[in-house]
Amino acid sequence: DRKRREQLYEVNALATKFYNHILMNHPAGAQGLSYLLGRGLTKKTIAQFQLGFAPWGGRELVRFLRKREFSTDVIVEAGLGMLTSDGELVDRYRNRVMFPIGALQGRTIGFGGRALGSEEPKYLNTQETPIFRKRNVLYGYALARQAIRKTGQVVLLEGYMDVIALHQHGLANAVATLGTALTQEQASILRRVVLDDVILLYDSDSAGQKAALKSIEILREMEIPLRVASIPDAKDPDEAVRELGADRFKAECLEQTMSALQFQLLQLTHKHPNHLTSDRLDYLRDAVNILAEEDSSIEREAMLEWLSKTYSISVAALRDDLQTQLRTKS
Ligand code: UTP
Ligand code: MN
Ligand code: MN
Ligand code: MN
Ligand code: MN
Repeated sequence: DRKRREQLYEVNALATKFYNHILMNHPAGAQGLSYLLGRGLTKKTIAQFQLGFAPWGGRELVRFLRKREFSTDVIVEAGLGMLTSDGELVDRYRNRVMFPIGALQGRTIGFGGRALGSEEPKYLNTQETPIFRKRNVLYGYALARQAIRKTGQVVLLEGYMDVIALHQHGLANAVATLGTALTQEQASILRRVVLDDVILLYDSDSAGQKAALKSIEILREMEIPLRVASIPDAKDPDEAVRELGADRFKAECLEQTMSALQFQLLQLTHKHPNHLTSDRLDYLRDAVNILAEEDSSIEREAMLEWLSKTYSISVAALRDDLQTQLRTKS
């Protein structure tokens, strides 16, 4: 109910302050602070994203929250505490750098907590709660909204650090889906603010590329214009923008985009490793199937030309098969 939800908002707000205070002012947060500074973040950025640190002890946050009259129930439901087998309330997050996740207006509704080292999981996230529904969340949205309106574009990323790094480099129209493909709910949020197009910029690892393909399907279904950007070398946007700086990152990543269709055809080459030799016809058959799903005939024509050149086959032959596909579709 409404009162319960309000309590969940309040406990999340207080936890955000607590974790941030530990990070910035307390010896128990020193490791977290040097971790974030070591990853190139400024104190200004840390403040803007209200980053924090969950101390090692295991009871600090829950004690603090209990003193402020929050019930064990609310603390557990918010995902901030958990009950041991002895029924004792302990912190859920320990020794992790804390990334508050905001609702669309910015109020904290959950957290991602990053391990300092290689402990698993790398990010521990809030489970689904009455106020935290992962499929509705776009990380960084409240801070990006103005810039999205102004530029007409949104840069859609995978991770917490990707969003934060782009913001720090003046690219404030960036949000993230948090390691998964875009959902319909997230897409409809974007449709309301994006005037020009969505720029998809996922990690260049295979998980990222797979998620990108799925996100493309959703954006297509909802008729949201999109372009796909990519990062040279096996990097993610955070690493790339730090290495290249804002201007080169813009010129070499954000402005080197391809159409969704081109991206799909390139991804298809991974399915047919010998696409230039023995697998060429297999590849072309699958490629024509993908073309048949594209609504824009301009896009289809452009890619017919490209396939024809790249695979030395006549446009007429490709067009012939494409027509057959389109006929069986309709
Ligand atoms: P990545 O593995 O690409 O991590 O996952 P990252 O964002 O680059 O993290 P850093 O730079 O190593 O700190 C992308 C996103 O997937 C989600 C997170 O939202 C992460 O930002 N993820 C990943 C999880 O939720 N849990 C995990 O254990 C790993
Ligand atoms: Mn990744
Ligand atoms: Mn990263
Ligand atoms: Mn990454
Ligand atoms: Mn094959």
